Amino acid sequence: MNKEAKKQEILSAFQFRHATKEFDPEKKISDEDFAFILETGRLSPSSFGFEPWRFVVIQDQALREQLKPVSWGAQKQLPTASHYVVMLARTAEDMIYDSEYIEHMMTEVKKLPKEAYEAISGFYKTFLESDFKLLGNDRAMFDWAAKQVYIALGNMMTAAAQIGIDSCPIEGFDQEKVQAILEKEGVLEGGNFEVAVMVGFGYRVNEPRPKVRQDLNDVVKWIK
Ligand SMILES: Cc1cc2nc3c(=O)[nH]c(=O)nc-3n(C[C@H](O)[C@H](O)[C@H](O)COP(=O)(O)O)c2cc1C
Repeated sequence: MNKEAKKQEILSAFQFRHATKEFDPEKKISDEDFAFILETGRLSPSSFGFEPWRFVVIQDQALREQLKPVSWGAQKQLPTASHYVVMLARTAEDMIYDSEYIEHMMTEVKKLPKEAYEAISGFYKTFLESDFKLLGNDRAMFDWAAKQVYIALGNMMTAAAQIGIDSCPIEGFDQEKVQAILEKEGVLEGGNFEVAVMVGFGYRVNEPRPKVRQDLNDVVKWIK
């Protein structure tokens, strides 16, 4: 495919994607297509490559029902989404420079040689301590991890749109209450996690309204 055609195809996917309020409960995403969406999340970039996320796919309708009263922004999406993902971000306990998780990422996942490990550890400590001043502020640390989760979120929604699958990102929920439910159900085990954002995937029942966006000149500033 030539470049112009490719650009048009990508832009059509961006036009196609909209915050889908209600999915067709009868239409399910195939396992292959959903694996593709998850793969684009997994391959997403993250600061220092530390992948501070977990994607929990909630297919248990009873658990979705529990989340509904505390998720005002997902009233129709929770019961109808073919696949519903709660995107978790790692907390300060895992993201601090000397945590077991960071060591695991550097030694077992990235398989860094000792010198590289030490150099990156040093940069990471400085980054947390003084560059971004995250150290000692658990909320800031979590928000920083969550920012990266949103990169995966964006990629997954765009990839889904490119294969004709709808989605809706969801921040309309009581974070503490959702957290408590997931904790009780044992969903947060195997790391230190909090809920960053949720996202439903499926197939639309209604056509969306035309896109509303500011003019390009109002959102882009060129310095020449
Ligand atoms: C981080 C984030 C959280 C959102 N939370 C909700 C939500 O809880 N419920 C909902 O229906 N839409 C939600 N939206 C959808 C936005 O309202 C929507 O993306 C925006 O109005 C632009 O419309 P469009 O996505 O259809 O182009 C959210 C969007 C983002 C990016």
